Amino acid sequence: MSPIYPSPLADFGYDVSDYKDIAPEFGTLGEFDRLVAEAGERGLGVLMDIVPCHTSIEHPWFREHPDWYIWADAPNNWTAAFGGSAWSPFNGRFYLHSFYPEQPDLDWRNPEVVAAMQDVLRFWIDRGAAGYRVDAIDRLLKDPELRDDPPASEPYGLPLRADEARFALSNSRNAPDMGEALAKIRAACGDAFLVGEVYLPSAKWQPYLEHFDCAFAFELMFSPWEAEPLRRAIEATTRQVRAAWAMSNHDFGRLATRFGEANARGAAMLLLTLPGTAFLYQGDEIGQGDGPPGESVYDRAGRDRFRHPMQWDASRNGGFTTGEPWLPAVDPAKRSVEAQRDDPRSMLSLVRELIALRRELGDGFELLEAADGVVAYRRGAHVVAVNTTAEARPAPVRGEPRLETVQGALRNGTLAGHSGAVVKD
Ligand code: NOJ
Repeated sequence: MSPIYPSPLADFGYDVSDYKDIAPEFGTLGEFDRLVAEAGERGLGVLMDIVPCHTSIEHPWFREHPDWYIWADAPNNWTAAFGGSAWSPFNGRFYLHSFYPEQPDLDWRNPEVVAAMQDVLRFWIDRGAAGYRVDAIDRLLKDPELRDDPPASEPYGLPLRADEARFALSNSRNAPDMGEALAKIRAACGDAFLVGEVYLPSAKWQPYLEHFDCAFAFELMFSPWEAEPLRRAIEATTRQVRAAWAMSNHDFGRLATRFGEANARGAAMLLLTLPGTAFLYQGDEIGQGDGPPGESVYDRAGRDRFRHPMQWDASRNGGFTTGEPWLPAVDPAKRSVEAQRDDPRSMLSLVRELIALRRELGDGFELLEAADGVVAYRRGAHVVAVNTTAEARPAPVRGEPRLETVQGALRNGTLAGHSGAVVKD
């Protein structure tokens, strides 16, 4: 779950004003306990989203413990993720904010900050949370001397805004002693599941994977829907072993819009059969697309259209709420869980079959030679082949097309017009 803590919502909850409570918009601690218990009864764990690098500027810590934050007499050249300087004035000095000015960065080199955040991490684990998605974790430690970022001498490896891309970003994030701070997070969480939002190419994941279970695979997320770049992203990421695959999220948009409606099934097939953990953004299982472009009422960075509600049924609000949703449902009459549930050829049925199939896929992974337009790999006894050039023809799941067709596709790239197949060898 994205953050559900009390927050002034300058960044949709990623500006936390109390880490040990639930925002009244979302419920109460008692309701959280019930959610965890009922999820547990169904064999599900609840992952919280923890935001350790910054608080809301309205968190009492900012006034009570200003020394828990990062200050300078004058700004350096570091830029904020949403544009402009990462420094804003306050009481005659400047505080650092890697994101919005309403999100001052905590100083993880201060042991009091570490202790306070470890206390928070334990709080939710003790209440039954299964672990955390750890937000913006490459920002946890910066250069202690706050030196300027030097000019870039090579590409960063992931998309950046033009003003960020001019710099090497080696001082403003991912400090060389990062592992020490990550170890403190792990120490507070025991063996709970930790996935890091590490906005770095997978070749730089090593200190993160030493302490966390996995890291989001942004190279795949940002790959164009073409076989060669997809293969390159998969090859680079699988070298690191513990990837958390994601092809969509609340920051960058939904699967069907990012890769094209015609490719949503093939993309889901990749996402759910690559080796590692998979994150499927709510709505993607029915092929929901982004909302219409236009005014972003809640998020100044324009991300409202990635955040419209899940469509459970065909009613006006898609069955998401009986009240007025913050953002309207996009197209519930066209697609919903209810409409797809009993249709064996629906996207929802495909996703369900793929999730069931995950239990059968072994640990092994080998990228296979494939003809133009096809990404293919072996997972133990299964072969997965995804056709990046397929038109909107329904993808079968298992059995059809037959293995010979897939093998033929590996040789001549047709896959019989299907968007993909998983077959047992
Ligand atoms: C990453 C989150 O996914 C995004 O929504 C947020 O704006 C930033 N971190 C800042 O917390």
